[in-house]
Amino acid sequence: MSAFNKSSALMARGAEFLGSDYAILCGAMSWVSERKLVSAISNAGGFGVIACGAMTPELLDAEIAATQALTSRAFGVNLITMHPQLFDLIEVCAKHDVTHVVLAGGIPPKGSVEAIKQGGAKVICFAPTLALGKKLLRSGADALVIEGMEAGGHIGPVSTSVLAQEILPTLAADNLVFVAGGIGRGEAIAGYLEMGAAGVQLGTRFACASESIAHPDFKKAFFRASARDAIASVQVDPRLPVIPVRALRNKGTEAFSAKQIEVARQVDEAALAMTEAQLQIEHYWAGALRRAVVDGDIENGSLMAGQSVGMVTQEEPAAEIIAKLMAECEAALSTRVAA
Ligand SMILES: Cc1cc2nc3c(=O)[nH]c(=O)nc-3n(C[C@H](O)[C@H](O)[C@H](O)COP(=O)(O)O)c2cc1C
Repeated sequence: MSAFNKSSALMARGAEFLGSDYAILCGAMSWVSERKLVSAISNAGGFGVIACGAMTPELLDAEIAATQALTSRAFGVNLITMHPQLFDLIEVCAKHDVTHVVLAGGIPPKGSVEAIKQGGAKVICFAPTLALGKKLLRSGADALVIEGMEAGGHIGPVSTSVLAQEILPTLAADNLVFVAGGIGRGEAIAGYLEMGAAGVQLGTRFACASESIAHPDFKKAFFRASARDAIASVQVDPRLPVIPVRALRNKGTEAFSAKQIEVARQVDEAALAMTEAQLQIEHYWAGALRRAVVDGDIENGSLMAGQSVGMVTQEEPAAEIIAKLMAECEAALSTRVAA
């Protein structure tokens, strides 16, 4: 660790909060962030996060136990707020003494933050705006992630650099704020740490780690892709709000537009209620991501990836990726002019 003096000093608050060596989270990636990748990240000094996604409480129970068998280091569990069994999943986390729960996919429902804390875990929430960030902290969130639209997966409308400027100067001195979206190298980590971030969260950069169970064809698609191939999905019908998803362009991204048109038609014909329509859209993504990650169907599946995908060029062990990021961060900080 001594080789990373400057970085470690700026990461100290975040690393202490996470219980890791480095304040680098590997953001939860559905189907990708399971026992192997999560334990590899945490064993390498970063902070792995299990993606619960649509798992049942029984499946999450087994995944946490299996991860704990592979690492004694801290890791988190990412729960989607609209999961119909959210509170059962929170109980499963408490049963295993999970130390950190990340709530993703919208404003946490009433009682969920309290339930997590009662179970002894710290709560990390996504803050899409400064006002919501403040509200989440008032409601008990222990730390925030701000994620820009460069990220892979479901995204908001604002870039990481703008969110960082809007939120870090106000909140980062007194609160733990982690920055995510578009980070592929340590120089960017250095920049956000200097702006006051407690640490960073990366997804795309870790998706093709040697320990990632993603299908070899999924990984090859990442190695071939450049930033401009990772495009945000387009909302087709103004009445059917869909959260944009950033993924590599393929037949699947085109099929998503067709799916929206079909669902909108069913809503028109009153064959489908709006909430059900939105659920169908969400399930579409979960199924499509599974097809790409697990089955290797890179034509029709969803290759969720952020714009940093161009910086993912080969399979490397998680420990090497983290060591590179830290070395780049340290080198960047070392070139700064001393006061
Ligand atoms: C393949 C993939 C799947 C993802 N799945 C989830 C998820 O299930 N839940 C979640 O909160 N974020 C998910 N994300 C977002 C990541 O956790 C992380 O915040 C994001 O990748 C950071 O931006 P980056 O991709 O630019 O590094 C996913 C990202 C990718 C690339």
